[in-house]
Amino acid sequence: MTAETSSRPLYHIFTRIPQRYDLINHVITLGMDTGWRSRAAQACLEGRPNRILDICCGTGDLAITIAKLADYSPEITGADYSRPMLEIATAKAKMLSQGQNIRFIHADVGRLPFPNGSFDCIGISFAFRNLTYKNPETPKYLDEILRVLRPEGRFVIVESSQPGSAFIRFFDHLYLRCWVFPSGYLLSGNRGAYRYLLDSALHFYSAEETQKFLLKAGFRQITAHRFFFGAAAVYAALK
Ligand SMILES: C[S@@+](CC[C@H](N)C(=O)[O-])C[C@H]1O[C@@H](n2cnc3c(N)ncnc32)[C@H](O)[C@@H]1O
Repeated sequence: MTAETSSRPLYHIFTRIPQRYDLINHVITLGMDTGWRSRAAQACLEGRPNRILDICCGTGDLAITIAKLADYSPEITGADYSRPMLEIATAKAKMLSQGQNIRFIHADVGRLPFPNGSFDCIGISFAFRNLTYKNPETPKYLDEILRVLRPEGRFVIVESSQPGSAFIRFFDHLYLRCWVFPSGYLLSGNRGAYRYLLDSALHFYSAEETQKFLLKAGFRQITAHRFFFGAAAVYAALK
């Protein structure tokens, strides 16, 4: 079965994306997504890895941020199963002087077309939730990530999280229900996509739960840095 004919969860959400996808992301996160992605890009560059993979790269923002922040020339690969996302990513990279260090490929995380240990670092921005929230393919995704990461390689995640304080969590959930869902739905016209975003973000793991989950999956030395009162976090883990 090819990615085009796939019945995998979420595939149809991400292959029917609006032209203004990036703008909508900035609006719904009140512009904070850029800063959080930069923190993840910095974490990816720790130890100056040469071969970096951005999985679920979407329109390429993590890969592009890594290329812009690097003071050397790592080989950066972005992989995603949505061709419309990859078309935007490729066009954006072409406009960058560092774009020549980035290649984008069409691939499902469940079947990555790379030999074992191909990457020193794998990063994922705002898509770990997609791979792990009520997703029956989760074990396959984690196995593939571990397989293509070299021993001692780093896995970096930036993802929404649950604030630890019940008081802050109340306001975070209010922001998700009253801003993220309606503005995403109105700007995109896609109710289902932003309903999924709302449900998964409301019920996703806290930072502590994500750390335990990664440990159980086979990663070690897991660190978490929380942002915006714990509404988002950057995790780094070693294979
Ligand atoms: C919420 S977007 C995040 C995109 C980007 N990383 C960012 O920071 O904006 C999730 C992305 O994950 C991709 N995706 C979800 N599941 C995937 C899978 N199993 N294999 C490859 N890509 C996947 C979608 O196509 C989509 O581009």
